[in-house]
Amino acid sequence: MGNARILRDVIISGLCLALLSMAMEATTKVTSQPFGKMPDGTPVEIFTLGDGAYEARIATYGGVLVSMKTPDRNGKVTDVVLGFDDLAGFVRNFNGTSDAYFGAIIGRYANRIAHGTFALDGRKYSLPLNNGENSLHGGPRGFNNVVWKAKPIANGVELTYLSKDGEAGYPGNLTVTVRYTLTKGDLRIEYSATTDKDTVVNLTNHSYFNLAGDGDILNHQLTLHASRFTPVDAGLIPTGELKSVDSTPFDFRKATAIGARINADDQQLHLGHGYDHNWVLDRKGSDLEEAAELYDPRSGRMLKVLTDQPGIQFYSGNFLDGSIKGKGGKPYALHAGLCLETQHFPDSPNHPDFPSAELKAGAHYHTVTVFSFSTR
Ligand code: GLA
Repeated sequence: MGNARILRDVIISGLCLALLSMAMEATTKVTSQPFGKMPDGTPVEIFTLGDGAYEARIATYGGVLVSMKTPDRNGKVTDVVLGFDDLAGFVRNFNGTSDAYFGAIIGRYANRIAHGTFALDGRKYSLPLNNGENSLHGGPRGFNNVVWKAKPIANGVELTYLSKDGEAGYPGNLTVTVRYTLTKGDLRIEYSATTDKDTVVNLTNHSYFNLAGDGDILNHQLTLHASRFTPVDAGLIPTGELKSVDSTPFDFRKATAIGARINADDQQLHLGHGYDHNWVLDRKGSDLEEAAELYDPRSGRMLKVLTDQPGIQFYSGNFLDGSIKGKGGKPYALHAGLCLETQHFPDSPNHPDFPSAELKAGAHYHTVTVFSFSTR
């Protein structure tokens, strides 16, 4: 009896130790430091989340994912997102005519709203236009262009921003919280928001990935768990059709090199100058599900995108033309990176048959996307 009890105690304390060391191992180191000052003097911080070979750095300006270091199949660590070395680079780009939204949190409405207008509760709203005759990514001063409040949390950082009633043309005081956490190769982004008036919300992250760390992304193999996409007009506004990807260059249901069909003679590819479309995810339920998988055969790096959102915008970096000098002064040439923006469909406020992006006064907006890095 006595021996059995001793044995039991030994086993229990062993288990406790194992659990404790697992918990300690899972704790990501979170530090912060100044990243510079905005032109008006507002200080900007940068948070570093480190877990083993994986490291994410997030700025309070725009909630930008400034860098994401991941190992390749041989353990060599490289930064796999596009951007700039310093705050000034982001501020200049996000306020210029070739705004590329590198790594930023996008809101209040990610993607396009046709003619910058929509109706809600019988009232018409007009947004400032910044993309031809349309509003893109929250307009000229979106969530990418503001300094967020920040505090460290377990394994990450919590950012908050109050978008005031009428700001950028949208109704309602919207309090937004974005939590970035890193555990091993999983960068989890959790978005929450509440409003005091009915409004529309569509938040995403606009990181440009290049799993090789340089060159272009045409040899990356992409899988999209989507049987349909939303074809667009010349202004990249959805026509309203949910079109089957069958026998089109938009069929990524099996892993396919991005470059394999990007130059095909296809009207939708011409309109997008490549891929710049929203795919309708084949969802089983409403929880986190795998939406996309990106694989770079050269480095062995893999990125899985999991989300609870109905759509994903795959943008193949078609507007990059070498004129933007990014990290290390490197010009970002055509297709230097690609975006996988989990989201509600573009222009949903004007498409009653699309999943609704409306947030009712007092209701909670909550969505999660995980960028999961590994190697193969
Ligand atoms: C998006 C759009 C693209 C382009 C980029 C930024 O994802 O869909 O058309 O505007 O942002 O350059």
